[in-house]
Amino acid sequence: MSDAKTIESVMDERRRFPPSKEFSESAHIKSKETYEEMYRGSIRDPVAFWEKWAKEIDWYTPWTKTFDWDPKEVRIEWFRGGKLNASHNCLDRHARSWRKNKAALIWQGEPENDVRTFTYQQLLAEVCKFANVLKSKGVKKGDRVAIYLPMIPELPIAMLACARIGAIHSIVFGGFSSESLKDRIADSGCKILITADGSYRGGKLVALKANGDIALAKEHYVENVVVVKRTGIPVEMKEGRDTWWHDEMETASTVCEPEVMDAEDPLFILYTSGSTGKPKGVLHTTGGYMLYVLLTFKWIFDYRDEDTFWCTADIGWITGHSYIVYGPLAAGATTVMFEGIPTYPQVDRYWRIVEKFKVNIFYTAPTAIRALMREGEKWPGSRDLSSIRLLGSVGEAINPEAWMWYYNVIGGGKCPIVDTWWQTETGGILITPLPGATVLKPGCATVPFFGIDPGILREDATEADINEGGYLVIKKPWPGIMRTVYGQHERFKDIYWTRFPGVYLTGDGARRDEDGDIWIVGRVDDVIKVSGHRIGAAEVESALVSHKDVAEAAVVPMPHPIKGEAIFAFVTLKAGVPEREELKKELIQHVRQQVGPIAAPEMIQFANALPKTRSGKIMRRILRRIATGNVEELGDTTTLADPSVVDKLVSSRKELVK
Ligand code: PRX
Repeated sequence: MSDAKTIESVMDERRRFPPSKEFSESAHIKSKETYEEMYRGSIRDPVAFWEKWAKEIDWYTPWTKTFDWDPKEVRIEWFRGGKLNASHNCLDRHARSWRKNKAALIWQGEPENDVRTFTYQQLLAEVCKFANVLKSKGVKKGDRVAIYLPMIPELPIAMLACARIGAIHSIVFGGFSSESLKDRIADSGCKILITADGSYRGGKLVALKANGDIALAKEHYVENVVVVKRTGIPVEMKEGRDTWWHDEMETASTVCEPEVMDAEDPLFILYTSGSTGKPKGVLHTTGGYMLYVLLTFKWIFDYRDEDTFWCTADIGWITGHSYIVYGPLAAGATTVMFEGIPTYPQVDRYWRIVEKFKVNIFYTAPTAIRALMREGEKWPGSRDLSSIRLLGSVGEAINPEAWMWYYNVIGGGKCPIVDTWWQTETGGILITPLPGATVLKPGCATVPFFGIDPGILREDATEADINEGGYLVIKKPWPGIMRTVYGQHERFKDIYWTRFPGVYLTGDGARRDEDGDIWIVGRVDDVIKVSGHRIGAAEVESALVSHKDVAEAAVVPMPHPIKGEAIFAFVTLKAGVPEREELKKELIQHVRQQVGPIAAPEMIQFANALPKTRSGKIMRRILRRIATGNVEELGDTTTLADPSVVDKLVSSRKELVK
């Protein structure tokens, strides 16, 4: 845990942006008073609140008990006895309504002319076909399915096909290495892998199937691999195991009855990084998750049937799960999906897509905003962005400068920005403005969503004062919260429910200002947010230590103008290994291979020794300060086993070149 100073906020942002009268009048939640009244009701009687709104979902059988939980064992149950199917809620119910010919999914490939649009009816047919393919491969309810695909329509089709037959999908971001894929496949015992020959990435081709083959070279339970042909790069197909998606789909039937699922049956597993070296399989279940993503989507993005919604995240992360696929489709929305990157072929790619599809609601990450801001106003300025009426931000705190640029240049000074705070674990957005009701402050996530009861606690579990930084916790489970770490319930209890018994520990620091608005201050654990992606320091450290020349490593965040945070690694080499610049490059390459390119250290500093307490614990607080060059305020170093280690690190930091 970091010291109190790290979670003390230094921000002093005074600008205020109330919603316009015009926006509020047509919004779902029209005023601060309405928000406050509904919010108070949702906290006073959450059961009544969720019971009322659960009717937005189609249930085959109604539930018998809305909420039950055992705080000691952390068994959380929503909508006991309720039966439903997620793919039915996302597809069938719309395909049977006037929405049957509405665009459900608009896909823009990296090549400009690759566009595919699926109506609700068409998407349902594709999902049924692939559900039948899965069945033909012996995939049954409860089986785990690994999906390692680029951002192509087959990805949501495969997800929804799993949901349809009750199989649990585990999506691995296409940018992860074969090593990471292997660990994730093994951890959840996946039976089948869905992948592609390759993917496009900024004009280059990335081999995915080849990574899959490496991942499957060791022990696993995978019996079948289905391969989408996306790029045409050559792949090896293993006889009896590997088949092509298009061959399988050719003969598959478009009829597949959805499996009747219990509200608490698992829907998916998604791995995320934490403080330890091993990623956690965050498990979400069906009823509560579906309801939570539907309602947050509708109210926070103020979605109306005529809107086109675009979330730029990758479906390999939770943002894509909840706000490209499940939330928008459950709401009967038109959701845009983009295969490429913001800067290819030119830095106006996002703005071209907004113009092309007349996007009304645009949801992206601060790292993308900063990267595009740097390129200047001429790029968005030469595109027609007038369709946009609402903007969203997610993944890390948005710095006020980027917020103002987003507001003025992209939103034309007229669109509210919802700065949405949430996590893989929370399933959906927890702290956010409601755009028709909340006064916005640049960089501030503002207020809790309905049914969310946050606290900001001191070390001793008492509530922090106004503007005093503390641990952000949520005092009671909500429908969208994760239920367990797959196969490791004790780990779930330890990580999230032990520090303050009975309340959910988010791992973030926060403060509440004099208006009661919540400002997120950043992580208080050893998680580093690189371009909004969560990288566990321990994962990178163990990758570094697995290199033959490395004895020990410690990894900390350093500020980065575009990425927000970047990785700074202190590395102690084995005795006799000379320190050379070439070795740094080799180590960076090694981490890329072990974890994936997103985890590559920005800087490496060789260190003869690391600062440790007498009990042998590395003092990261000191390393963080050294990495940021903030060496004037190293704090108390008297508890170190050998304080002279610090002086050496400080002097070699000064000489460090990248
Ligand atoms: O530190 C917070 C930061 O992202 C973490 C969750 O990361 P992940 O599970 O990858 O999910 C990201 C997308 C939901 C949080 O613990 N974070 C996310 N959104 C914000 C944020 N920090 C500040 N402001 C936000 N809006």
